[in-house]
Amino acid sequence: MSAHPRLRVAALASGRGSNLQALIDARDAGALPVDFVLVASDKPHAPALRRAEEAGIATLALDPKSYANRAAYDADLFSRIAAAKPDLIVLAGFMRILDAAAIAPWRGRMLNIHPSLLPKYPGLRTHARALEARDREHGASVHFVTDELDGGPVIAQVRIETRGDDTPESLAARLLPREHELLVATLAWVAERRIALTAEGIVFDGALLAAPLDLDDRRQRVR
Ligand code: GRF
Repeated sequence: MSAHPRLRVAALASGRGSNLQALIDARDAGALPVDFVLVASDKPHAPALRRAEEAGIATLALDPKSYANRAAYDADLFSRIAAAKPDLIVLAGFMRILDAAAIAPWRGRMLNIHPSLLPKYPGLRTHARALEARDREHGASVHFVTDELDGGPVIAQVRIETRGDDTPESLAARLLPREHELLVATLAWVAERRIALTAEGIVFDGALLAAPLDLDDRRQRVR
C-alpha cells in the first residue's frame, strides 16, 4: 500500500478512451492509487465520456465551436479542470493543441501518452511514419506536457518490433495494449511520488534520469 494520499487525477480524452479505460480498470483492480476527479472532452459524443460515466466519474464536454478562439477555449477548460482540484492532468488521447498560457501552471503536473518513440514522430500518423522510415522498432512514450507539441521531457517508453508485413493498422493494434500498460505503470509511479519534474530534469526514485525509463526493464518496477 502507498503511504501517500491518493493522487487526484483529471483526464482529457477526445476519442474511444481505451487508455482511460485501462486506467479505470487498474484503479478498480487496486493497482493504481488514484481518484479520478473529472474526465473532460472536446467531443461531446466521445466514447471516453461514456466510459467515465459508467465508472461514476464526473464528466465535462466543452465544444470548441462555442468559443472565439483557442485561448478562450483553453482558459475555460483549464479553469473548470482547476475547480476539480486535481493533483495531475492526464492527456489520454486528447487530440487538440493546447494554449501555452493555459498549460503553464500545470508544468510538471500534466502527462501525455504519445504513440511513438519520442523524439521521433511528434504529431499525427506515427505508425505510418515509422513504417515509411523502415524503423525496426516502434513504441509509445509518456511525457510531461510543455508548450512544444509532444516535446516535453519523456518519462517512460515501451518498445515493440516492427514486422515486414505490418500496416499502420496492425502496428497500432499491437502497440495499443502496451501503451495501456505504459500509461498505467507511469501513472502508478507518479501516484507513489517516485517521479518529479525538476529544473534539472526528471527525477525517479531520487536520481536524475539520464534516459527515459523502459517499461520492460524490470529493475525499475521494484523498489
Ligand atoms: C492513443 O494511441 C494515444 O497514444 C494517442 O491517441 C490514441 C488514443 O486512443 N495519443 P484511446 O482514445 O485511448 O483509445
